[in-house]
Amino acid sequence: METKPPRGTKDILPPEIRIWQFVEQEAHKHFKSYNFKEIRTPIFEYIELFQRGVGETTEIVMKQMYVFTDNSGRTYVLRPENTASVARALIDNDIFQIAGPKRYYYIGPMFRYEKMQKGRYRQFHQIGLEIFGDEHPAADAEVIAVGYTYLKRINCKNLIVEINSVGCRKCRTTYNYELELFLSKNKDYLCQDCKDRLTRNPLRILDCKNENCINLVKQAPIILDYLCKECKVHFNDVKFYLDRYKISYELNPYLVRGLDYYTKTAFEIKSGELGAQNAVLGGGRYDSLVKELEGPDVCGIGFALGIERVILAMDTSSIKEDVLDYYIVCLTEDAVMYAIEISEGIRKYNYSCEIAYKPTSIRSAMRIANKLNAEKVIILGSDEITNNVVSIKNMITGEQSIIHKNDFLKQL
Ligand code: HAM
Repeated sequence: METKPPRGTKDILPPEIRIWQFVEQEAHKHFKSYNFKEIRTPIFEYIELFQRGVGETTEIVMKQMYVFTDNSGRTYVLRPENTASVARALIDNDIFQIAGPKRYYYIGPMFRYEKMQKGRYRQFHQIGLEIFGDEHPAADAEVIAVGYTYLKRINCKNLIVEINSVGCRKCRTTYNYELELFLSKNKDYLCQDCKDRLTRNPLRILDCKNENCINLVKQAPIILDYLCKECKVHFNDVKFYLDRYKISYELNPYLVRGLDYYTKTAFEIKSGELGAQNAVLGGGRYDSLVKELEGPDVCGIGFALGIERVILAMDTSSIKEDVLDYYIVCLTEDAVMYAIEISEGIRKYNYSCEIAYKPTSIRSAMRIANKLNAEKVIILGSDEITNNVVSIKNMITGEQSIIHKNDFLKQL
């Protein structure tokens, strides 16, 4: 039997799991301080949700979805992203009937069949947030600020915020036409993938990593020159509010995102600590998605970050390893009942405690205690039971003491 996990997935074990717990706990605290509420949606959804939401011509929908059929004959996918799912959940639960902006965040696994690379997995984990129903440009700036300050809070290094506007349906149509015209004239310089993208989705050519394509794109028209008045004003206001939030950013007119739902603001936060897959966080505004999914005409903006990539970009040195407060060693079979009584007393005070039930020698118990990172070891044998005391060894100072059981529990 194969014991390796499927390609593109990995097991996360201690001590690495400490970093994951830290990243998740800080996310709960950080997002709550901006009044985002957590939402959990199913890991699989009907295929139509992403075909409609993310877009039929995107790489995600065309090539990367894990599609399966269940016994009922219906077709599902493991979710490749969560923005469409959150929008669906709010439509289904009539949340849009309630007035005012809706602010949600989520943490969970996503699935994309992608080529393996450092920082790129087939099951990866995102932390994301979405604001629905707030068209104010300060909301765009706030979302970018929440993402940036969160990444700083968890010690991500070498961060660069990049922003762009991808316009609305109106201005993008004119731009797409001009871009396609320019690229068609220079088709011979494009890689095969981009030749295929030319008629399907020319915007995607802007972030092709092929050197010839990059050089050609540098001479192509840029979307910022084609923005309609409304999109231009919105983008200028977003920049104004980013300054108020004290977020430094770079303008990247070639920044386009791999999902079709974006309108106006698009952004990514990259880390210089990573290789080719250097985007730790990506997001933008999506003003037509909810309507596209047959919900009301409600705008949205949000981002998602990849936990695996964030961890690669983090300084994790200050994250403390798990410590075991008390390790109780039974030297005889009789000591087990006594150990259980003491362990329950210890846990009442919120200390962690593990019992080694099987009678063992002190030497081998100490070896295990060190491996478990135990701070104190309690040794229980016949003498301790008879005298109603506990023998304690402090593993940090080496100090040993014998103390009456009641006094021990009282001093906790
Ligand atoms: P995305 O850019 O596709 O956007 O993904 C967001 C982040 O997820 C990326 O910046 C990256 O850190 C991580 N990520 C994506 N694919 C992989 C992978 N194969 N392996 C590891 N990490 C990966 C979205 O998913 C949008 N739903 C974000 C959004 C929310 N836009 C608005 N609201």
